[in-house]
Parts: sequence; structure tokens; C-alpha cells
Amino acid sequence: MIAPIMGTAVDRVDGPVKVTGAARYAADVAPPHLTHGYLVTSTVAAGTIRGIDLSAAGRSPGVIAIYTPDNPLRLNDQPPGLSTLLGEARPPLQDHEVRYHGQIIGLVVAASFEQARDAAALVTVDYDARTPNASFAGNHDRAVAPPPTGLPLGQPVDILADGVSSIDEALRASDVTLTGTYDLPPRHHNALEPHAAVAMWRDGQVTIHSATQGPSAHALEIAAALGVGPDAVRVVSPHVGGGFGGKAFTWAPTLLAAAAARELDRPVKVVTTREQLFTVTGHRSAVHQRLTLGARADGRLNAVKHDSISEAIVEDPGIRATLHFYATPNLHAGLRITAGMDLPRTTIMRAPGDETGSFALESAMDELAERLGMDPIDLRLANYLTHAHSADPAGRLPYSSKHLDECYRVGARRFGWHRRDPQPRAASDGDWFVGMGMATAVLGAARAEAAIRVHFHADGTASVATSTADLGTGMWTVLAVMGADSLGIPISRVRPAIGDSRLPVGAGNAIYGAIGSAATATVAPAVGAATRDAITALIHHAVTHRRSPLQGLDPGEVRYRHGTLTGGGRTVGFGELLTATRTDNLGATTASGPPATQPHTFASYAAHFCEVRVHRWTGETRMSRLTSAVDAGAIVNRKAARNQIIGGLVFGTGAALLEASHVEPATGRIANANLADYLLHVNADIPDIDVHFLDHPDTAFSAVGARGIGELGTIGAAAAVANAVYNATGTRIRALPITPDKLLQ
Ligand code: MOS
Repeated sequence: MIAPIMGTAVDRVDGPVKVTGAARYAADVAPPHLTHGYLVTSTVAAGTIRGIDLSAAGRSPGVIAIYTPDNPLRLNDQPPGLSTLLGEARPPLQDHEVRYHGQIIGLVVAASFEQARDAAALVTVDYDARTPNASFAGNHDRAVAPPPTGLPLGQPVDILADGVSSIDEALRASDVTLTGTYDLPPRHHNALEPHAAVAMWRDGQVTIHSATQGPSAHALEIAAALGVGPDAVRVVSPHVGGGFGGKAFTWAPTLLAAAAARELDRPVKVVTTREQLFTVTGHRSAVHQRLTLGARADGRLNAVKHDSISEAIVEDPGIRATLHFYATPNLHAGLRITAGMDLPRTTIMRAPGDETGSFALESAMDELAERLGMDPIDLRLANYLTHAHSADPAGRLPYSSKHLDECYRVGARRFGWHRRDPQPRAASDGDWFVGMGMATAVLGAARAEAAIRVHFHADGTASVATSTADLGTGMWTVLAVMGADSLGIPISRVRPAIGDSRLPVGAGNAIYGAIGSAATATVAPAVGAATRDAITALIHHAVTHRRSPLQGLDPGEVRYRHGTLTGGGRTVGFGELLTATRTDNLGATTASGPPATQPHTFASYAAHFCEVRVHRWTGETRMSRLTSAVDAGAIVNRKAARNQIIGGLVFGTGAALLEASHVEPATGRIANANLADYLLHVNADIPDIDVHFLDHPDTAFSAVGARGIGELGTIGAAAAVANAVYNATGTRIRALPITPDKLLQ
């Protein structure tokens, strides 16, 4: 008897190759005759390139080719869609315009990385430069309604109770109102692994080893840029060193590697430097929010008005966060965007809109609780949302399985919330003020159709394969766990395969691979359907093949159990069977997904609790405790799931205390484009984190019952810290990060 392992704490199956260094990341690939491309980037933020002098660079040792707008690699624009909205809208080198500081204006290809870098330093560029429009705050007055994109993002939502004519009227009728403005700086993903690609052509086909969250979408985007058919591009991406949305879409370095390799008929590797990553790939937009809450004296919300400004429609706090948090009869959410600034591209970054919106909303709820003399948890329970808000009454569907109330209860008990004194500055320890704060996280749960290939092999193993990526999220192990349980065999006999655009993919968002915290939710339930078809194929083979010990039986007489077929009084393991029939492998590829329409809204939930200590004289904030109680449905791998929540909390609390990309308004340059000046949490900043999962499988969501986790820890984390800082010090910080100077004023 083999016990199911789903829901237990399973070691990562890719762990050994990662810790021993055997795992090959994109930049580790080194085919024969490899050449190295180095990016040349602009040193002004706006203007036109008048001339480029390559005489010194061209004479530099080892140089093979230099591409510039005068001698470009031809690349097409992407067809309109998500890729243009959230990825590289304009391929580099196609004109002489400079649109931001650090834009790619050249690619030097040489025999070694160092030679390419040396030559790139010798390229001199003459610009006709303009003063850039680079101040986000300076563009607030000019922000405009976003153009229609086909997505709900950026479109205003107005929900008003019967007889109410405007959100302002509803606010005026409230017993208590509270308004705050909240500012978050631009931020960068800063994954450990940089963007890197190695491209090699053969017979009109290109294989690209590239760090990506979605090999299939990546291949389609590269094909469109190169003007070749989708089958001509294969993307291989077995291991990814972090993505956070930064590797969801295709960025110019990969396109240049592919195009240069075609031109030179030699493999080309392009690895971005840490500094280049700040400009040649997308980032999270700065966001400015103005939020007004109107409540009755008993704490129930009467009106919520949430207006935001960002550089990108994907940072839409009203739609992504406020629609999903609290009950209110009147709600307005609106977004304007600052179009036409001379800044690098924006893209999705872990919980876009949800993270930024939850900071404002959860800070404001903390403030409202104090104003009303209520416990912050009681205020949230008084406004518990059971049906999603929607401007369209038909969209007001109940949440499928929501146990956020239990998250509050269990989290509070584990954290010791009852010990919190609501009076700021009430608790101290020597020179440190001690404070506690909490916040809610809600993350819409998505699932797409996935195609999975399950094959039995003659060596007694089974492979489970699909085209998605593991950017540290645990997808290798998800496939191994689901394969082992579905086939009833030990995990050691399951061979997962991912990270290749040639593997089966599925439809909808599955094409994009690991995004939107939906990969496990998409892939895990699809393994069962594929396994059933593979077993049917195995039984068919067993009763029809002349060398099979079960040949001649009726398929209905044969039973599969734990890797073994039994029928007619005979028993044979699948490895034994395939060996006997001299068959290498056999199985099925099956696509399955959610029904087209469903009577529910799906989301994952958490309650985060944070204790901070703020130094009385220096204003330094240290986190001393973090607790998170999570309702994400069933858990596939407890170990990796916990790891994801911890990662999200580290991410979100980093936003609270440290992270910011500083744009110099006068030059458009990112002043701290390196990991010495862009501050990130290190291990010493992180206390022990207590993560608790409620186990309530969401069977309305999928047969497996597992919803998304990846972005959940990030949402609300910054507010939990800011609320704890307020409780410690009596100072409410509404502009992140919470640096010491802000607490010393
Ligand atoms: Mo996530 S921002 O969808 O990679």
C-alpha cells in the first residue's frame, strides 16, 4: 500500500541538482563556437542618436560584429496583446530615438564576454538630447484615463446603492470618514538569476535557452519578433532563478541573441548585467493612491472611494484589491495613467495592483479601527465580504470556499494578538518601541486548461510532462507529487519534465506558464485526467500486444493499481510489460481545465501579523515576529507552499522597509541600479516566520481543491508592517519604504 503524498512536506525533486550546482541555468549553456553579446545602453533618457562611432570598438580584440540603429538586427513589433502591453513593446535598434535612460542602442558580439564588454566601452555616441519627462509626481496632473485594452484593468468601477446618486454623496452620509494618500515607489524584481539567453540556429530552426516563466509564450513572442513560424522556435528553460513577473514576457536581450545568432550563423549568448536589468527589462510602476473610507458608527463600511495613478494599467489597486476585500454598498475605483514619460517599461511584478492596493486599504482599515475604537480584526469581520463586488450584478457571485474569518482567529491566537495594546507607544523594551499590526490578503484564484503528457517507461518509471516553468515555485515537485499519487507509485519512480516549449501546453493563461499564482492550480488537477488516459492506453497495449502476458483479455477485466496490471489471474508491472513488449514508452497527452462558466468567484486568503521594534533614537525598524494564517484550499506540497508564503512575506515586508528604485527627475537615470544601493532584505533582517495553512480543499475550484499561493504572502504584508510601526510609534507612514528619516520627523 502506498499512501498519497499530496499535502505532506515533500523535498524538492530538483533540490539535489540545485545545491550541487549541476542544474544548468540559461547562462550555463555553452555550445561549441559560442559567441558573446554585450548590450550597449543609452546614457541620456530622451532624444535622438545623431551618430555612433565604432572605429575604436571595431578594432578591439575578439570583436565579431556590432549592431546599432545604423546596422540593425531586424526585429518585428509584437502583434497587439498582452505582450505589447506588459512586455517589450518596441524591439531595440529599429530607430534612432532614445526613450529612456539605459535603453539598448547596440549589441557588441565578440569571442568572449570580457572582449565584448571591453569593446562596448569603446563605443561613442553623439546624442541630440532633450530634457526628459521623468518625474512621476510631476505627471500626476497630466495623468489620463487608460485606453481600452480588452482587460478590465484601468476601467472605472462604480457601484451605488439604490437611491444614492454619487460616491461623494454616500461618503457624506457616513458617520465617520477618513482620507489618506499612499505612495509607493517604482521597484524592480531583482531575481537572483539575471535575464540570459543562448540562441543557436540549425536548418532554419532556433533553440533558445532562456530564463523565462513561460517557455511557450516566450517561443511565440520570439517567433513573432523574428518573423518565423511558431514551430521554428524552441525555448528551453528547465531552471529559473526567480522571476516574480520579470520573466513572464520577452525582453530585448533574448530577441537580440536570437537575431544575432541567425545573422552570424553561430550561437550567441547575451547575459544582462545587474545594472542593465534595471532598464532593459520591465519593472513595477510607482503608484499614487487616494483612498477614502466612509463607515457607520458600528464599523460597517458605507462607501469606499479609491482613485489611483500609475504608469501601467496592471498596477490598478482599485480593481485588483479593493473590489475583493470588504463589503460596502457604495464603491468607486478609478485609475489614471501617466502616459508618455521617458522611463523604462513597466510590467507585472508579484501581485501587481493587489500588493499596492492592499497597502493603502489595509493601512486605512487600521486607522479606521483606531478612530472607531474597534479591534482591527473586529472591524474586518464586521465588513466580511461573501460575494465579489462587480459593477455588473450578474458578476456578483459568492466566493467558492472562504475561511478568512478562521485565518483571523487562528492567526491571532498563534501570534498572541490579545497582548497588543491599541494605544501607540504603550510597549517598549529598552530603547525600542514594540508594536503589533495585522493585515488581510486576498488574491483572485485563476486556473487555465493544461495539457499533460503521462508516459510509462520500460525501466519502471513514469514521466509527467507539461510546458511550464519552475522559477523556485516548486513545479518540478508538483508534477512528481501529483504523478506519484495519480499512478499510485513512489515519487522516486516519477520523472517530471517541464521548461520546454515543445512539451504539451494547454490553453488560455497556461500559455504564459507560471504567472498569476495559477501554475499549480492549473497543472495539479490536470495530471489526474492525463493519468487516466495513460492507464487506458497501457491496458489497451497489455491486452493487444502479442508479447504481453495479458494478451487476449477484455480491457474491462484488467485492473491498474500501484503500477501493476492484474487480470485473468495474472499480474504484471508496467515496466515488466513494456520490457516484454519491447516498448520504450507509451501513454497519453490530455488537456483538461475548468468549465467555461462557474457560479463562484475564486480567491485565496490570508491574515498576516507582524511585530516590529522601532528604535527610539535612530528610527530603525526591525521585524521581530511574523505570523501568517493562510486559506489557499488544499495544499499540494506543504514544504514548498510554506516556502512560497515566506518568500511573499519577505518580498512584501521588503517593500515596507527597504525597496525603492530612485529615478533622478532631471536625468531619468535610476540612481541606485545595483544591489549595493537598492536595498533588499537579507537573512539577518527576517525573523522566524510562523506559517499556518488551514486545510479546506476548494472542490468547487478543482478536483484537487488547490488554489494559488505564490503572490498571497506579498499582499497586505507592507500594511501589516506599517500598522505595527504605527502601534509602536504613533507615526503613520503612508509613503513606502518606511525609512528611519520618516520616523524621526
Ligand atoms: Mo506574477 S507578477 O503573475 O509572475
